[in-house]
Amino acid sequence: MDYMGPFLKPRLQPGRKTAFEILQEHLPNRKRSTPLEILEIGIGGGANLQYYPENSNLTALDKNETFSKYFEDNKKKFPQVTYKEMVSSMAENMEGIEDSSMDVVVCTFVLCSVQDVKAVIKEVKRVLKATNLPADAVQNASKLNFGPDQPFSSLENACL
Ligand SMILES: C[S@@+](CC[C@H](N)C(=O)[O-])C[C@H]1O[C@@H](n2cnc3c(N)ncnc32)[C@H](O)[C@@H]1O
Repeated sequence: MDYMGPFLKPRLQPGRKTAFEILQEHLPNRKRSTPLEILEIGIGGGANLQYYPENSNLTALDKNETFSKYFEDNKKKFPQVTYKEMVSSMAENMEGIEDSSMDVVVCTFVLCSVQDVKAVIKEVKRVLKATNLPADAVQNASKLNFGPDQPFSSLENACL
Protein backbone atom coordinates (compact mmCIF):
# COMPACT_ATOMS: atom_id res chain seq x y z
CA MET A 1 0.00 0.00 0.00
CA ASP A 2 1.27 3.48 -0.88
CA TYR A 3 0.71 6.43 1.43
CA MET A 4 1.64 9.02 -1.21
CA GLY A 5 -0.95 9.63 -3.86
CA PRO A 6 -0.38 9.24 -7.63
CA PHE A 7 -0.14 13.04 -8.01
CA LEU A 8 2.51 13.71 -5.37
CA LYS A 9 4.75 10.66 -5.69
CA PRO A 10 6.17 11.25 -9.22
CA ARG A 11 6.72 14.93 -8.46
CA LEU A 12 8.87 14.17 -5.44
CA GLN A 13 11.05 11.51 -7.10
CA PRO A 14 13.56 13.86 -8.84
CA GLY A 15 14.49 15.55 -5.54
CA ARG A 16 15.02 12.19 -3.85
CA LYS A 17 17.11 10.89 -6.74
CA THR A 18 19.36 13.97 -6.77
CA ALA A 19 19.91 13.80 -2.99
CA PHE A 20 21.09 10.20 -3.18
CA GLU A 21 23.23 10.86 -6.26
CA ILE A 22 25.10 13.45 -4.18
CA LEU A 23 25.59 10.85 -1.49
CA GLN A 24 26.79 8.18 -3.96
CA GLU A 25 29.31 10.62 -5.48
CA HIS A 26 31.02 10.88 -2.12
CA LEU A 27 30.95 7.23 -1.17
CA PRO A 28 33.52 5.50 -3.41
CA ASN A 29 36.35 5.85 -0.89
CA ARG A 30 34.59 4.33 2.05
CA LYS A 31 35.51 0.83 3.19
CA ARG A 32 32.83 -1.53 1.84
CA SER A 33 33.13 -3.92 4.76
CA THR A 34 32.01 -1.24 7.20
CA PRO A 35 28.27 -0.59 7.19
CA LEU A 36 27.24 2.98 6.54
CA GLU A 37 25.38 4.22 9.62
CA ILE A 38 22.41 6.22 8.33
CA LEU A 39 19.80 8.08 10.33
CA GLU A 40 16.66 9.07 8.45
CA ILE A 41 14.66 11.79 10.17
CA GLY A 42 10.91 11.84 9.50
CA ILE A 43 11.11 8.59 7.58
CA GLY A 44 7.35 8.27 7.15
CA GLY A 45 6.57 5.22 5.01
CA GLY A 46 10.20 4.82 3.87
CA ALA A 47 9.91 6.27 0.36
CA ASN A 48 13.71 6.72 0.20
CA LEU A 49 14.61 3.09 0.92
CA GLN A 50 14.93 2.26 -2.77
CA TYR A 51 17.85 4.72 -3.07
CA TYR A 52 19.90 3.55 -0.09
CA PRO A 53 23.38 2.27 -0.92
CA GLU A 54 24.37 -1.35 -0.26
CA ASN A 55 25.49 -2.13 3.25
CA SER A 56 23.42 0.62 4.87
CA ASN A 57 22.52 0.24 8.52
CA LEU A 58 19.45 2.37 9.10
CA THR A 59 18.11 4.09 12.18
CA ALA A 60 14.61 5.31 11.34
CA LEU A 61 13.18 8.24 13.29
CA ASP A 62 9.73 9.76 13.14
CA LYS A 63 7.49 11.56 15.61
CA ASN A 64 4.40 9.94 14.16
CA GLU A 65 3.85 6.20 14.61
CA THR A 66 0.96 6.20 12.14
CA PHE A 67 3.45 5.71 9.29
CA SER A 68 5.06 2.62 10.78
CA LYS A 69 2.74 0.11 9.08
CA TYR A 70 3.66 1.55 5.64
CA PHE A 71 7.33 1.53 6.64
CA GLU A 72 7.17 -2.11 7.80
CA ASP A 73 5.58 -3.15 4.47
CA ASN A 74 8.04 -1.12 2.42
CA LYS A 75 11.23 -2.27 4.12
CA LYS A 76 10.63 -5.90 3.09
CA LYS A 77 11.21 -4.82 -0.52
CA PHE A 78 14.75 -3.48 0.05
CA PRO A 79 17.06 -6.14 1.46
CA GLN A 80 20.19 -4.03 0.86
CA VAL A 81 19.24 -2.07 3.98
CA THR A 82 19.65 -3.50 7.46
CA TYR A 83 17.78 -1.94 10.34
CA LYS A 84 19.30 -0.87 13.59
CA GLU A 85 16.23 0.58 15.27
CA MET A 86 13.05 2.59 14.87
CA VAL A 87 13.04 5.64 17.14
CA SER A 88 9.85 7.48 17.99
CA SER A 89 11.01 11.01 18.69
CA MET A 90 10.91 14.65 17.68
CA ALA A 91 13.82 15.57 15.41
CA GLU A 92 14.36 18.67 17.55
CA ASN A 93 15.44 16.47 20.47
CA MET A 94 16.81 13.11 19.36
CA GLU A 95 17.70 11.84 22.82
CA GLY A 96 17.77 8.21 21.69
CA ILE A 97 20.61 8.83 19.21
CA GLU A 98 24.18 8.95 20.47
CA ASP A 99 26.59 11.80 19.75
CA SER A 100 28.89 11.27 16.71
CA SER A 101 27.27 7.97 15.78
CA MET A 102 26.04 8.54 12.20
CA ASP A 103 27.86 8.68 8.86
CA VAL A 104 24.86 10.16 7.05
CA VAL A 105 21.64 11.90 8.01
CA VAL A 106 18.85 11.82 5.45
CA CYS A 107 15.91 14.19 5.75
CA THR A 108 13.56 14.70 2.79
CA PHE A 109 10.32 16.68 2.80
CA VAL A 110 10.47 17.12 6.56
CA LEU A 111 12.14 20.41 7.46
CA CYS A 112 9.20 22.32 6.03
CA SER A 113 7.00 20.90 8.78
CA VAL A 114 9.21 20.76 11.88
CA GLN A 115 8.58 23.23 14.69
CA ASP A 116 12.19 24.42 15.01
CA VAL A 117 14.55 23.98 12.03
CA LYS A 118 17.59 25.37 13.94
CA ALA A 119 17.12 22.83 16.72
CA VAL A 120 16.91 20.01 14.15
CA ILE A 121 20.12 21.15 12.42
CA LYS A 122 21.87 21.37 15.81
CA GLU A 123 20.80 17.79 16.57
CA VAL A 124 21.95 16.64 13.12
CA LYS A 125 25.40 18.13 13.79
CA ARG A 126 25.52 16.45 17.20
CA VAL A 127 24.79 12.94 15.89
CA LEU A 128 27.02 13.11 12.80
CA LYS A 129 30.54 11.71 13.01
CA ALA A 130 33.33 14.14 12.19
CA THR A 131 33.79 13.86 8.43
CA ASN A 132 36.06 14.96 5.67
CA LEU A 133 33.08 15.34 3.32
CA PRO A 134 34.11 17.91 0.71
CA ALA A 135 32.52 21.35 0.95
CA ASP A 136 30.88 20.97 -2.48
CA ALA A 137 28.82 18.02 -1.20
CA VAL A 138 27.41 20.16 1.57
CA GLN A 139 26.81 23.03 -0.84
CA ASN A 140 25.02 20.79 -3.32
CA ALA A 141 22.82 19.42 -0.59
CA SER A 142 21.84 22.86 0.63
CA LYS A 143 21.09 24.03 -2.94
CA LEU A 144 18.71 21.13 -3.10
CA ASN A 145 17.14 22.26 0.15
CA PHE A 146 16.50 25.83 -0.76
CA GLY A 147 17.05 26.14 -4.52
CA PRO A 148 14.59 28.58 -6.11
CA ASP A 149 14.51 26.53 -9.31
CA GLN A 150 12.94 23.59 -7.50
CA PRO A 151 9.22 23.49 -8.29
CA PHE A 152 8.48 22.19 -4.82
CA SER A 153 11.28 24.03 -3.03
CA SER A 154 9.24 24.53 0.12
CA LEU A 155 8.77 20.77 0.34
CA GLU A 156 12.08 19.52 -0.94
CA ASN A 157 14.51 19.27 1.92
CA ALA A 158 17.48 16.99 1.82
CA CYS A 159 20.24 16.88 4.42
CA LEU A 160 23.25 14.74 3.62
C1 LIG B 1 5.86 14.72 4.25
S1 LIG B 1 6.33 13.36 5.26
C2 LIG B 1 7.85 12.89 4.43
C3 LIG B 1 8.19 11.45 4.68
C4 LIG B 1 9.52 10.98 4.05
N1 LIG B 1 10.65 11.69 4.60
C5 LIG B 1 9.49 11.14 2.55
O1 LIG B 1 10.40 11.73 1.98
O2 LIG B 1 8.55 10.61 1.94
C6 LIG B 1 6.95 14.20 6.72
C7 LIG B 1 7.38 13.22 7.81
O3 LIG B 1 8.12 13.93 8.80
C8 LIG B 1 7.64 13.59 10.08
N2 LIG B 1 7.91 14.74 10.95
C9 LIG B 1 7.43 16.00 10.82
N3 LIG B 1 7.91 16.80 11.79
C10 LIG B 1 8.75 16.03 12.54
C11 LIG B 1 9.55 16.28 13.69
N4 LIG B 1 9.61 17.50 14.24
N5 LIG B 1 10.26 15.27 14.21
C12 LIG B 1 10.21 14.02 13.64
N6 LIG B 1 9.47 13.71 12.56
C13 LIG B 1 8.75 14.70 12.01
C14 LIG B 1 6.16 13.30 9.87
O4 LIG B 1 5.61 12.50 10.90
C15 LIG B 1 6.20 12.58 8.52
O5 LIG B 1 6.43 11.21 8.64
